[in-house]
Amino acid sequence: MNGGGPEWDETHITKYFFPTEQIPRVSCTDPLADELISQEKPVVLTDTKLCDSALKWDLDYLAENMGNERYMVFVSKNNKFKYYDEAKMRVYKANFVPPTKRVDMTFQEFVKKLREWKPGDERAYLQQGLNNTFGHAIVLDFLQFNWQWLNVQQKKHKWGPLTSNLLLVGMEGNITPVHYDEQQNFFCQLVGYKRCILFAPEHYERLYPHPVYHPHDRQAQVDFDAPNFEKFPGLDKLEGWETVIGPGEVLYIPMYWWHHIESLRDLSHTVSVNFWYKGGPTESITYPLKPRQKLAVMRNVEKMLLEALKDPAEVGPLLRSLVLGRYTGDESLGE
Ligand code: FUM
Ligand code: FE
Repeated sequence: MNGGGPEWDETHITKYFFPTEQIPRVSCTDPLADELISQEKPVVLTDTKLCDSALKWDLDYLAENMGNERYMVFVSKNNKFKYYDEAKMRVYKANFVPPTKRVDMTFQEFVKKLREWKPGDERAYLQQGLNNTFGHAIVLDFLQFNWQWLNVQQKKHKWGPLTSNLLLVGMEGNITPVHYDEQQNFFCQLVGYKRCILFAPEHYERLYPHPVYHPHDRQAQVDFDAPNFEKFPGLDKLEGWETVIGPGEVLYIPMYWWHHIESLRDLSHTVSVNFWYKGGPTESITYPLKPRQKLAVMRNVEKMLLEALKDPAEVGPLLRSLVLGRYTGDESLGE
């Protein structure tokens, strides 16, 4: 710490157009941690020791120990890495131009790209699932993760199985634009600092996700650097939660919570690993449904329409003719 202040430079924090509150930061032994996780609310856990064996995963260590496979790297002409689904790209043929390019490369090639980078060059972001092709030292570090703590969490919160671990190695300034995932996530920071901005699921009305069949499914259409308040009037009421996480800290990102993640400019690169878990079995349903359950209902309606109509281009017009003039907001059967 420099003089007790944050180790990242606060002047590097971009000011966006929406207000935010700070995500609570607590010890994993604090009862508040359990309470927030069980309510599916975000929290930063400062002392889980979840990945202490991987705090040494800097570029040199990874270059030496990852192995010689080619790993999944995305390159972008700007600092944004908006995810797209390659399978949906084949179905959705309407002039979709992917905003980033996938270029698989060895870790050594990736490090060279990072080290030789200068302003104006394309940026790179390695996003590779951990698997057993990784070198022996990495596998040993992985085995020493705090699986005991994870297993306790999984049981206590009745989550489904762990589905994958994604290793993210990014350049300073890289941004993963706002989106939601359909799984619970313990997001573990290993090297450098990341600013994480989250929004509760009900903000889907203010973030305008792309249609389910679109390659950018689960991503907001909204651009935080150039918000279009006319096209997306709900943006006016957007309110978020944010934090900066550093080495050894874990952010719980509840499923269906929107998140935007920036690698801060205080080290040349950042390294993180996430732990994705399936949500638990459907709890006994109470009404009105929770916002994230309504989001799931909407996804299913869109999927069913596509199944029936076969052509993505017909889904929007059918939904519009269903609503226009019929569902005007006063159709409640209440008193
Ligand atoms: O850039 C990131 O670290 C993104 C992570 C995520 O979306 O889960
Ligand atoms: Fe995500």
